[in-house]
Amino acid sequence: MPTNQLPTDSIRLIGNENLTTIQSYLLAEDQRHASETETFTWVLSAISLAAKFIAAKVRRGALVDVLGSMETENVQGEIQQRLDVIANEALLRCLGRRSGVAIVASEENEKPLLVESNMNSERPYVVLFDPLDGSSNIDVCGGIGTIFSILRHDRRADSPEGSVLQQGIHQCAAGYVLYGPQTTLVLTTGHGVQMFVLDPEVGQFLLVNENIRIPEGTKSYSVNEAYTDSFPKPYQDYLKWAHGEGYSSRYAGAMVADVHRILLKGGVFLYPPTEKSPNGKLRLMYEANPMAMIIEQAGGVAYAGTKRILEIDPSAVHERCSVVLGSKEEVEKVTSRLQHG
Ligand code: AHG
Ligand code: MN
Ligand code: MN
Repeated sequence: MPTNQLPTDSIRLIGNENLTTIQSYLLAEDQRHASETETFTWVLSAISLAAKFIAAKVRRGALVDVLGSMETENVQGEIQQRLDVIANEALLRCLGRRSGVAIVASEENEKPLLVESNMNSERPYVVLFDPLDGSSNIDVCGGIGTIFSILRHDRRADSPEGSVLQQGIHQCAAGYVLYGPQTTLVLTTGHGVQMFVLDPEVGQFLLVNENIRIPEGTKSYSVNEAYTDSFPKPYQDYLKWAHGEGYSSRYAGAMVADVHRILLKGGVFLYPPTEKSPNGKLRLMYEANPMAMIIEQAGGVAYAGTKRILEIDPSAVHERCSVVLGSKEEVEKVTSRLQHG
């Protein structure tokens, strides 16, 4: 073989199976849409760095003593797990160093944090996150994740909260990382939904699935069925109807894991109002909004009762809402009952 020719394996790789890292995907997107800037790419690369750090801790679990409870409570009165705190610190440390970030807001912090000392910062972005979603799965080796939402910083606001409290339709990007059998990062910047998998040997998130569309016609729902008796009647009616139609039920107890299945396989995810959480349990700003953007970008729909999640006017950073999201046809089977019930 002449020395200036590549071996056949390399040719196949270059011709048909280009390796695209998350950074190279974002840089190509910058050029294609000219919508975001290089700064934006830096912000996302800080999130991917934090995700790699968290994934490394999660993988080793008990071996590096990161499991178990802190015996402290977060602002919402929930007991913090050690990994909740480790993941939060990883994100704060990675994002706090990036010049594009004006404000960060986390499930684990009472108030949004200003990265610089004044509201008039030229830094363009606000990043909100649930650092560790599915805390009850940590100690049992179940699916857990990180959810994030990126908004533009509103320099006219007179407080960090004022800049953060925007409708979900204004998100310029949203995503999640699922620490499952693979570490998987799902991202939308408003141009479809892309999926990356962390190659632990290369240390990079590589693009594996582009422009994901939620399949229709899947007879599957995801809900904590133990609470059925305290759901409003239209949700009970939907579940009763589904039982008679041969549906299957899948519930991991971590929104990231459950929504990831819906994204790839179809069906509906529900977290209705309950007696214990009359407004729903999930947090609007860093759970429902980013998931709603991803689901809509994949051709699905996302509602809080009968209201589109992305159009809710938030009034508090840790505000909760009910959630019905998934494939369009399946969600309509629930929302039509809510409209008429
Ligand atoms: P977090 O661990 O960030 O507090 O979120 C837990 C959430 C969400 O991941 C999941 O869908 C839901 O709580 C599960 O709640 P139930 O245990 O009430 O079903
Ligand atoms: Mn969560
Ligand atoms: Mn959490």
